[in-house]
Amino acid sequence: MMVIILRNDIIEILNNRKGEFISGEELSYLLKVSRTAIWKHINILRKEGYEIESVHKKGYRIVENYNSLLPGELIGRLQTQTIGRNIIYFESIDSTNDYCKQKGNDLSHGTVVISEEQLLGRGRLGRAWASPKGEGIWMSIFLKPHIPPLEGTKLTQIAAAAVCSTIRNVVGIDTLIKWPNDIVFNGKKLCGILTEMSAELNEIHYLIVGVGINVNTLYFSEEISDVATSIAVEIGKTVDRKTLVTNILKVFEELYEDFIIKGSIKKTIAICKEFSAILNKKVNIIRGNSIKEGLVIDITEEGNLLMLMENGEKEVIQSGEVSV
Ligand code: BTN
Repeated sequence: MMVIILRNDIIEILNNRKGEFISGEELSYLLKVSRTAIWKHINILRKEGYEIESVHKKGYRIVENYNSLLPGELIGRLQTQTIGRNIIYFESIDSTNDYCKQKGNDLSHGTVVISEEQLLGRGRLGRAWASPKGEGIWMSIFLKPHIPPLEGTKLTQIAAAAVCSTIRNVVGIDTLIKWPNDIVFNGKKLCGILTEMSAELNEIHYLIVGVGINVNTLYFSEEISDVATSIAVEIGKTVDRKTLVTNILKVFEELYEDFIIKGSIKKTIAICKEFSAILNKKVNIIRGNSIKEGLVIDITEEGNLLMLMENGEKEVIQSGEVSV
């Protein structure tokens, strides 16, 4: 038996019988390995961050770790087929997107890399992304989609739709999507998405959807406190990150499969339109040094903005920063 599978099985058994002591003998019988092997793996699990009590003559008991995103806490709640079935967890890392880039094709499709904190979290346009320990969801979804590289941006829309609709359903606040990659509430940013890929002209090697959600952060640095917020700040209480992560991955998988199978992102676009922060609004589109003003009249089937520009002409915008 592969050792990681064995550890996952130990966690699953302990989790399924939370509150109960399970003897080393029973675990060894159930998993068909020696008691010494069980003991060895329990110690590794403890080093990984699981809190497991052991009492002489009683056995092992897992202590619910409410605040962590340890794979053993997520796997049992996941309702997906592929996305997040392999979770790589860190207490601390520079950036989950960078980890995926370093590993590249060694990772399997659907792997989710998640960290309690990021020391060098990255946002779009080379900006830093604050990722304090245990306060948010800092994760990267690693994908190998067989789609033309130009379609890669659709994955940002899929992620935005998944995050926005999940926060609405789970937390009950009316978050909006600020095309192309922000989720906002009351005009302040709650979540950012950074999609990166390695590709040739007509083939994607892999694509990384990095999602950063300010969940339980209560204090923001002065530079960002005017523009950033968190779910906890908005609702006045902390939120279970596990429920959010597992639900986001579920919706993400549904929308992703829909795209890959049907070749269209109709459902995603419907969500992006319904919850758009900029549809029918006058906005500035910033690209490098150029700023253009226009009215957003639609989000196209391809996930682009259809704008009515100041000169009366319609223009399709595929990328850029939007300021409202
Ligand atoms: C943005 O709004 O500019 C995008 C922010 C993306 C942040 C996430 S957190 C997980 C992943 N790892 C990173 O370094 N960045 C993304």
